[in-house]
Amino acid sequence: MAKFRFRIRYFLLLLTAAATASSFKVPRLSIYDPRHHLAGGQTSTLTAAMEGFESHFYNQTLDHFNYLPESYVTFRQRYFANSKHWGGPGAPIFVYLGAEAAFPHNFSGGKSFLIEIAPSFNALLVYIEHRYYGESIPFGSSEEAFSNSSMLGYMNSQQAIADYAEIIFHIKEQSNAGDSPVIVVGESYGGMLAAWFRLKYPHLAIGALASSAPILYFDDITPQDAYFNVVTKDFRDASETCYLTIKKSWAEIDEMASKPDGLSMLSQKFKTCVPLKNSTSLTDELEDLYASAAQYNAPPSYPVTQICTAIDGFGPNNDTLGRIFAGVVAYYGEKPCYINEPTQPSETDGGWDWQTCSEMVIPIGFGNDTMFGSDKAFNLTKFSDDCRARYGVSPRPHWVTTYYGGHSIKRILKRFGSNIIFSNGLKDPYSTGGVLENISDSIHAIYTTNGSHCLDLSASNVTDPEWLTAQREEEIHIVHGWLTTYYKDLQVI
Ligand SMILES: *[C@@H]1O[C@H](CO)[C@@H](O)[C@H](O)[C@H]1NC(C)=O
Ligand SMILES: *[C@@H]1O[C@H](CO)[C@@H](O)[C@H](O)[C@H]1NC(C)=O
Ligand SMILES: *[C@@H]1O[C@H](CO)[C@@H](O)[C@H](O)[C@H]1NC(C)=O
Ligand SMILES: *[C@@H]1O[C@H](CO)[C@@H](O)[C@H](O)[C@H]1NC(C)=O
Ligand SMILES: *[C@@H]1O[C@H](CO)[C@@H](O)[C@H](O)[C@H]1NC(C)=O
Ligand SMILES: *[C@@H]1O[C@H](CO)[C@@H](O)[C@H](O)[C@H]1NC(C)=O
Ligand SMILES: *[C@@H]1O[C@H](CO)[C@@H](O)[C@H](O)[C@H]1NC(C)=O
Ligand SMILES: *[C@@H]1O[C@H](CO)[C@@H](O)[C@H](O)[C@H]1NC(C)=O
Ligand SMILES: *[C@@H]1O[C@H](CO)[C@@H](O)[C@H](O)[C@H]1NC(C)=O
Ligand SMILES: *[C@@H]1O[C@H](CO)[C@@H](O)[C@H](O)[C@H]1NC(C)=O
Repeated sequence: MAKFRFRIRYFLLLLTAAATASSFKVPRLSIYDPRHHLAGGQTSTLTAAMEGFESHFYNQTLDHFNYLPESYVTFRQRYFANSKHWGGPGAPIFVYLGAEAAFPHNFSGGKSFLIEIAPSFNALLVYIEHRYYGESIPFGSSEEAFSNSSMLGYMNSQQAIADYAEIIFHIKEQSNAGDSPVIVVGESYGGMLAAWFRLKYPHLAIGALASSAPILYFDDITPQDAYFNVVTKDFRDASETCYLTIKKSWAEIDEMASKPDGLSMLSQKFKTCVPLKNSTSLTDELEDLYASAAQYNAPPSYPVTQICTAIDGFGPNNDTLGRIFAGVVAYYGEKPCYINEPTQPSETDGGWDWQTCSEMVIPIGFGNDTMFGSDKAFNLTKFSDDCRARYGVSPRPHWVTTYYGGHSIKRILKRFGSNIIFSNGLKDPYSTGGVLENISDSIHAIYTTNGSHCLDLSASNVTDPEWLTAQREEEIHIVHGWLTTYYKDLQVI
């Protein structure tokens, strides 16, 4: 019986028993390499990047979609604006659509690229925080807002993009910038929001840049096992022997665990922070680690390569588990202990769990031909049972495709949409749910073979490989084209 248990432990929500919480985790969409959450620091980079940004609060409508008196309740939604480089009314506005995290983030890689290019576009930069995250919390406090599904029910992508529409409208009005073209930008889940925003609100955004947005990982559009097939391929591409070592390690873990005293041997071998009670918590964590390494397999460090170099380079041939542990150490660096580390749930975890249990049902499982242990198919019945137990509501797995579409996207958008860039890196397992084909001469798929999750929007660096620079230049070039056309239209239409 395949029970799908996947979690990125650094985002693990511990509000309820770990057993329930873990069973409906799918790989996080987050734009951040979870290792960075351990590293601390980087705040100085953030502070520098944040220079020139002013925070604002907008009285946002709680429920955009009905006219019951309680829907008129408002909450304070935070956004940041930076007009340092803005050419004034008429000049472009880049709006970064927040995703499932507070802004500013401590590890704000993703926003850096926009900050870099704003001067050459004379653009106003705006970052809007997603409702229920950071300081944009309805009902006065997180305790209230997250207390039950009656309060959480206002958190979904339709409300979120309506929030963005209201704020963009407000900013344009306030700045007397009615004619300023707006480009919406987002990463990961935020990238989906950017693409959907362009389709729903073409009068408010002339184009969208959607980085690593798996808008096709819904319903039955993308095969369930696509994500883990790419994780496997990334490791296999890095090293065949590394892949084989990982592939055989699961049986060795199970075998050792079944011996008398086996769990304590495993605990020693992996320097666990708390003694293992079963082998599942170890295998879950290793799966998370490999998935994260693949998703964020970015230059210059290439974590998959780091792990495989350690696995291949370690001691005697027959010590598979010693190799696996060497890979763990290579990934995290030297630490007092590794597996089963106590973690604090973050508010982001709570928010995203709700979103996946209601609307954002991303069916990820794996079959038998990956480097992982026995197959773990995504079981919608089980997933829904867990969500009902936790929130008292059932997920709506078909809603995203009903509301936004996704099936036959090429045929549909070719005749309907325009001005969207779908950027991806094929090393990112989520790229399998991305748009990887050019749909028309204004809906572009710009991907790189060796890129990772949201890599294109991270800060540029002299060490960047040429293909990454080329990807960014292509994106800039396309956006320039949109603006040129827009300004031409402005004069004649
Ligand atoms: C993250 O940023 C917040 C402020 O936004 C700050 O209070 C916190 O200390 C930072 N955390 C780290 C690890 O830098
Ligand atoms: C926003 O709401 C607060 C509290 O209800 C109120 O004091 C403030 O004046 C409102 N701001 C605007 C711009 O309407
Ligand atoms: C949900 O939580 C709110 C705020 O804590 C509370 O007022 C309300 O009665 C709760 N609703 C249900 C159905 O439990
Ligand atoms: C394995 O142990 C962990 C605690 O380390 C526990 O939370 C989990 O429920 C256990 N899983 C199984 C399948 O027994
Ligand atoms: C691994 O191989 C070495 C030398 O070939 C041997 O001494 C050792 O007992 C082996 N260990 C296992 C676990 O088979
Ligand atoms: C995977 O292998 C197991 C055991 O060999 C088998 O029971 C299961 O049906 C296979 N699953 C798939 C998806 O092929
Ligand atoms: C899916 O989960 C349900 C409920 O836990 C279970 O009854 C069913 O056998 C599972 N299906 C498969 C194919 O494993
Ligand atoms: C899509 O078109 C762009 C040019 O606009 C090109 O650079 C890119 O390689 C094309 N993508 C695919 C997947 O063919
Ligand atoms: C991707 O990386 C591999 C391994 O480093 C390299 O052989 C290949 O040339 C790269 N592909 C591109 C398109 O840069
Ligand atoms: C460029 O990348 C190198 C290697 O990761 C790093 O040490 C350096 O700080 C980066 N430079 C900037 C300006 O971010």
